[in-house]
Amino acid sequence: MTEKQSDLPTTNGDTGDMVNEDNFTWQQKVGLSMKTPIGLLGIGLTTVCITMTVLGLLGHITGLIENPYAAIVTFLVFPSGAVFGLFLIPVSGYLRRKKWFKDNINKGNVIVDFGKKSHRKTVVLFLVLSVVNLAVFSLVIYEAYHFTESDFFCGAICHTVMDPEYTAYQRSPHAKVGCVSCHIGSGAEWYVKAKLSGLRQVKAVLDGSFSTPIPAPVEHLRPAQDTCEACHWPEKFHGKKVKQFVSYTNDDQENPDIQEIALHIGGRNPLTDTFEGIHWHVSNNVKVEYESLDDRRTSIGRIKVTKPSGVTEEYAVDGEAEGGVSKWRTMDCVDCHNRPTHVYDDLEKKIDFGLHSKKIDPTIPGIREDSLAVLQKEYTTREEAQEQIVESLLALQADRHDADFVAENEATLISSGAYLLNAYMDNVWPKMKVTWGTYKGHNGHQNEDEGFGCFRCHDDEHQTEFGKTISQSCDLCHDEP
Ligand code: HEC
Ligand code: HEC
Ligand code: HEC
Ligand code: HEC
Ligand code: HEC
Repeated sequence: MTEKQSDLPTTNGDTGDMVNEDNFTWQQKVGLSMKTPIGLLGIGLTTVCITMTVLGLLGHITGLIENPYAAIVTFLVFPSGAVFGLFLIPVSGYLRRKKWFKDNINKGNVIVDFGKKSHRKTVVLFLVLSVVNLAVFSLVIYEAYHFTESDFFCGAICHTVMDPEYTAYQRSPHAKVGCVSCHIGSGAEWYVKAKLSGLRQVKAVLDGSFSTPIPAPVEHLRPAQDTCEACHWPEKFHGKKVKQFVSYTNDDQENPDIQEIALHIGGRNPLTDTFEGIHWHVSNNVKVEYESLDDRRTSIGRIKVTKPSGVTEEYAVDGEAEGGVSKWRTMDCVDCHNRPTHVYDDLEKKIDFGLHSKKIDPTIPGIREDSLAVLQKEYTTREEAQEQIVESLLALQADRHDADFVAENEATLISSGAYLLNAYMDNVWPKMKVTWGTYKGHNGHQNEDEGFGCFRCHDDEHQTEFGKTISQSCDLCHDEP
């Protein structure tokens, strides 16, 4: 007898003869083929994991388990364990059988024979178990799919990394639009792409190799036609929209400077059936392409406009040397609405809003200047800011006024400080290097000095060969302020 066979039960007692394969029933063989360390591990793993998955599923369905983090375990960890276990069982059987055949055991003995009742019974048992497994797995896959598409999964699982985007998103007009509607869209192709890049991102989070801040623009964002246009329709005519801008100065905290402008948003004008105004760029009968000279799309080289007639106009900037980077892009919604949902506040605007809404008491002299100073200060962590912001405001005010004044106005100063702290918590994440102004919007010209907004092209400097420029006259985009 070879050592290899020593774990087969020998029914011919102590004769020491070669094991006779006929002494084993078929079931014994099938059973034995799994009774190796690998096979037992597989059976054990599958049993435990399936049981836990089923219990978890029941918990989630009945609402007993509410912690969304538990969903990671129920829908991802346990099912993976079960699948791995199921995979080990046939591997074990295969390895064992191979060994047996090498040792000259009759192959006929391990073949399924439907003529035998015992064989049929085993096969039926196998099928029933498989159906149960399949049912559990389909439910799990369905739930796991929804879970990995949830805003919670996208925004909160990688908490440190996504906290800025998730926080800004929750207070935006799109707070009820799922992350996946804009970042993945519909269709299997983008789903797979997103999950693959998701895996890379998980790796980056685990080994800490992600960039801080997360760079914008997102280079491979799905084209807006497939995402934004699922809900918004560039054909829709928005006409004019009046917007009010309220601002204060350090010298006058009580009387706002109010600018009202009527933006010519346009679209397809139903009265004239032509595209006009700001949304002309995305009308379906023109194509505006531009060459960005840096990764941030803040410096724009040539611009090509293809008109409905097929005529193409090209604008270029005089004298500007072509930089190293040159990427062509077709203009879409995101070139203006680059912050449709991750909307961070502008520091001064946030403070002016506080003054306007009286959340910062405008009657306290110097409070605008002090508020700016408090929020411009660098805190090493959000916790440190929580400890220091209200105190800093009190301290600055104490420098400015006498102790009596601060004591008298303590309650208002504390509530003004609380507003500043909230503003900070909504906009600054030192760990992610996200602070005031890290992410700027293109939808206007407030940050034109840094290369953001309409004036990247509307600068009177981009010219066609005939000297035609892209106008910067104020009333092109809005009524004169
Ligand atoms: C209304 C559409 C929309 C929704 C909903 C949305 N995003 Fe975004 N997101 C964008 C756009 C557009 C950009 C690209 C900004 C740019 O190019 O400058 C972006 C950029 C990002 C970035 C890169 C960093 C940055 O701020 O530019 C991250 C990270 C991100 N989104 C995460 C999320 C998460 C997490 C959710 C859900 C909680 C979400 N997004 C929901 C449209 C959306
Ligand atoms: C799943 C649907 C959906 C998708 C996708 C979507 N939006 Fe919206 N969007 C909305 C809804 C709903 C509102 C209105 C919110 C409100 O007024 O309460 C809105 C509002 C807006 C507004 C007006 C915001 C304001 O301040 O009034 C803009 C601009 C906008 N979306 C741009 C975009 C852009 C750009 C994209 C693609 C990156 C996009 N949306 C994708 C549903 C969507
Ligand atoms: C050339 C820049 C530009 C492009 C490109 C652009 N928009 Fe706008 N859009 C604007 C401006 C500017 C406003 C008004 C800004 C505001 O409300 O603060 C606006 C307003 C809107 C509004 C709100 C309208 C209202 O009545 O409040 C929606 C919705 C919108 N855009 C969707 C889109 C979608 C979808 C696309 C892509 C198909 C798109 N925009 C492309 C500049 C642009
Ligand atoms: C990538 C370059 C580019 C950017 C960025 C850009 N534009 Fe334009 N815009 C153009 C070009 C090119 C034209 C067409 C000029 C022409 O044919 O006279 C144009 C035309 C316009 C027109 C006139 C449309 C009509 O009725 O014919 C308006 C209004 C306008 N832009 C507003 C804006 C606003 C507002 C922004 C910023 C939110 C903006 N543009 C950003 C390139 C740009
Ligand atoms: C290419 C289009 C375009 C041109 C040209 C343009 N603007 Fe604007 N402007 C905008 C848009 C878009 C906004 C809205 C920004 C927002 O919603 O935050 C705006 C906002 C403003 C505001 C209010 C913003 C604030 O922060 O106070 C003022 C003031 C203003 N423009 C003045 C001007 C003046 C003056 C000119 C002429 C030199 C001009 N604009 C030319 C597109 C334009």
